[in-house]
Amino acid sequence: MAVEEPLDNPFVRRPSTEFTSVDELSEEEAMAEVQALREAIRFHDYRYHIEHDPVIADRTYDALFERLVMLEEAFDLEDPSSPTQRVAPEPISAFETVEHVRPMLSLDASAEADDVYEFDRRVRQEVGDATYVLEPKFDGVAIELVYAEGALDRAVTRGDGYEGDDVTANVRTIPTVPVELFGDPPSLLALRGEIYMPKDGFQVYNEERIQTGQDPFANPRNAAAGTLRQLDPSVVAQRPLDCFVFDVLDADEPWETRWEEHHAIQSFGLPVSDRVSHTEDIAEAIEYRDELLDERDDLEYEVDGIVIKVNERDLREALGQTARASRGAFAYKFPARTEETAITSIIVQVGRTGRVTPLALLEPVDVGGVTVSRASLHNFEEVRKKDVNEGDIVGVERAGDVIPYVAEVVEKRSDGYFQPPDRCPICESPIEFEGPLAYCTGGRSCTAQLREAVLYFASDAGLDIDGLGEETVRQFFEEGLIVDDIADLFTITKRELSSLEGWGEKSATNLLNELERVSNPPLDDFLAALGIPEVGPTVARKLAAAFGSLEAIMEASLDELEGVEEVGPVVAQAVRDWFDEPANRTLIEALDANGVTPQTWQATQTGDRFTDVTIVITGSLPTLSRGDATDIIEREGGSVTSSVSGNTDFLIVGENPGSRKVEDATNHGVQTLDGPTFESWLLGEADRPRQARLGEEF
Ligand code: IVH
Repeated sequence: MAVEEPLDNPFVRRPSTEFTSVDELSEEEAMAEVQALREAIRFHDYRYHIEHDPVIADRTYDALFERLVMLEEAFDLEDPSSPTQRVAPEPISAFETVEHVRPMLSLDASAEADDVYEFDRRVRQEVGDATYVLEPKFDGVAIELVYAEGALDRAVTRGDGYEGDDVTANVRTIPTVPVELFGDPPSLLALRGEIYMPKDGFQVYNEERIQTGQDPFANPRNAAAGTLRQLDPSVVAQRPLDCFVFDVLDADEPWETRWEEHHAIQSFGLPVSDRVSHTEDIAEAIEYRDELLDERDDLEYEVDGIVIKVNERDLREALGQTARASRGAFAYKFPARTEETAITSIIVQVGRTGRVTPLALLEPVDVGGVTVSRASLHNFEEVRKKDVNEGDIVGVERAGDVIPYVAEVVEKRSDGYFQPPDRCPICESPIEFEGPLAYCTGGRSCTAQLREAVLYFASDAGLDIDGLGEETVRQFFEEGLIVDDIADLFTITKRELSSLEGWGEKSATNLLNELERVSNPPLDDFLAALGIPEVGPTVARKLAAAFGSLEAIMEASLDELEGVEEVGPVVAQAVRDWFDEPANRTLIEALDANGVTPQTWQATQTGDRFTDVTIVITGSLPTLSRGDATDIIEREGGSVTSSVSGNTDFLIVGENPGSRKVEDATNHGVQTLDGPTFESWLLGEADRPRQARLGEEF
């Protein structure tokens, strides 16, 4: 472990959570306790977020944290370097521009091994025998972190390399970035690192954006950059950002070598990569990159190559720099997952929320083993900025699991850029522009929007209607079975169905039974199925639990909506707006008239055996599907989440579990249960299993 444990601190090992009453503390005693708590919490943060190896239970940590908040308030001891101050509550109107301590230079880069040998040859020729430090090249957003007297003073984006935006309040919310350093750091320490969004967090976050009608980010780097530019730090705090620190820009007494520097900054509690390696032989850099390339898809973060750095500071300085890049370091990149091809045409798609997006149809091309024939252009603003049009030769990029996108125009073969239509290509309603985004104003009177709304209504996220997929919905539209709105689904007769091509008596009966089955849905499922912007399954559940009935939600004021857990002003407004729209009220009435009425929340609650219990399930269970198990847990007041965190009570490990989740559970000290034990608890055959007690070590 890199950071030493403050052994004499009473809050570090097996801390008691029985505290002296605040009235009985003198100011000096309070001050001393606050200091010890801060130090201990910093240490526990480090063990948890960086070492992934906590030494106390989450609940004990929470108790220490609450105690610190209380003492700081009671004795007026708030301090920006306290771990309690990570979230700045107030949004700001703009970032200040600040100069970097030292210019943040760039790196020369190549994906060719020959260029690496050439770099080595030049180094040896100019400064003699150098050794090298090898490290991953993280694909995120560059950041300068300045620590003054060991406390985080400011965090600045790269900007033009000389000055950038002061994003300190945002960076403070990132749990792995220390607000105060351990040990004996120099009084000035200016560092360079990369802020990134881990891949799994990115997937979850993007999914959430899609569910709530927002534009997904093309890759984790853009998501990290977009998040860092948020003016409201409390928004940043909710997003999964992380950081690696890999360079000292300035220090009172810089270290002799990059290798020593790496270990020193690690001992201050800064997040560094555990893959940094030291070698005398440049050939190892080639191997190192190839190994990293093999592991690329298994890493939790995006890496686009490696960085080779001359280890000795004096040699690095002797090598100097060009106008833009240091000559003592070199980026050996991975082969690109980018290919060039021609745009044959650009089509305009209309989504469920009315979002109108341009999509490029391409001359098919192999991008890193996958044939790509369509690529996202995101929005019309991007089209304008990239100056893209039909016929152009473009670079198409594939990042992780995300759909390919047009990264740039490499050869302009057209005039100007593709113009957005001013009317919806499907329903001819006017298109409205909101910043970079374009919307068809037709609502569900636009066939494209209605079709997507029906599909969503029937999808897993909605009422989960078996047998109502894309093809069937398309057929219903073509045959005029759905004309006005979603409610038309429930007026389709057996006769109409059986007469459709490809349908028989049996398939018709099956679908009608399904429609009958879902006609008294649980309130939360019904709400989620409506496709209200910002309302995914989680928010739907919170609303259902808080208001109990559809009528109560429809009539709720903004204030009442905002009073619900996980419902902020944006969500509250979206819900209010949706129910205020006459077409939506007509839909609810028409559904009701066709026999589709949600049950009250109470009617679907079977008990409270899982109240306040949060569970994650990985792998398959002995008899139940995960969906059914989730349903039972939620109907008994519990919740099921997709990733293991400090708030998880149990991880259920079924057959063929994901190793990441099991590892996370170990790291967070979360209790695991096997499939059979869990099922007997779930089905009421056994009591809740015992959980590790407060302060117990895992
Ligand atoms: S060292 C003078 N090390 O790559 C060299 N940079 O153009 C200072 N990057 O945006 C940079 N991983 O932020 C260094 N391990 C690493 C890196 C790294 C990613 C970024 C850096 C910059 C770009 C270089």
